[in-house]
Amino acid sequence: MKRVITYGTFDLLHYGHINLLRRAKSLGDYLIVALSTDRFNTEEKHKICYFTYEQRKQLLEAIRYVDLVIPEDNWEQKITDVQEYKVNTFVIGDDWEGKFDFLKEYCNVVYLPRTPEISTTQIKEELKENHGDKH
Ligand code: CTP
Repeated sequence: MKRVITYGTFDLLHYGHINLLRRAKSLGDYLIVALSTDRFNTEEKHKICYFTYEQRKQLLEAIRYVDLVIPEDNWEQKITDVQEYKVNTFVIGDDWEGKFDFLKEYCNVVYLPRTPEISTTQIKEELKENHGDKH
């Protein structure tokens, strides 16, 4: 069985996330999502989430492409995650292109093109500016 892992915050789940998860799953048989914890988001990624870790986890677990959600609580855990979960392929969006090449020693590393024109940050900004009146 080929195991794939991806990392992220996945707040205000949107179709860019779903596209990423679908393509990630297609690279193997079992998809693990390492989901940024609330502490990791606020203290290290400087992101304020709308949904809590438990809420974001519940949403991801309801997606057919996702087999397991584990916590991401630091920048250093990737090598041990790959080893512990016997991961074949690490995948992430190409906004991170080149950043995780050090994992090539342990597994395949794939950067997938991001879905254009959508991000959690953009959703938040549009809601703030237009009060949600986009169309
Ligand atoms: N992603 C993607 N296409 C998008 C948005 C995100 O492929 N349009 C991917 C990212 O590259 C990453 C994963 O989805 O691999 C989780 O990204 P995350 O940072 O949680 O989502 P964003 O919408 O980019 O959130 P933010 O604006 O807070 O960075």
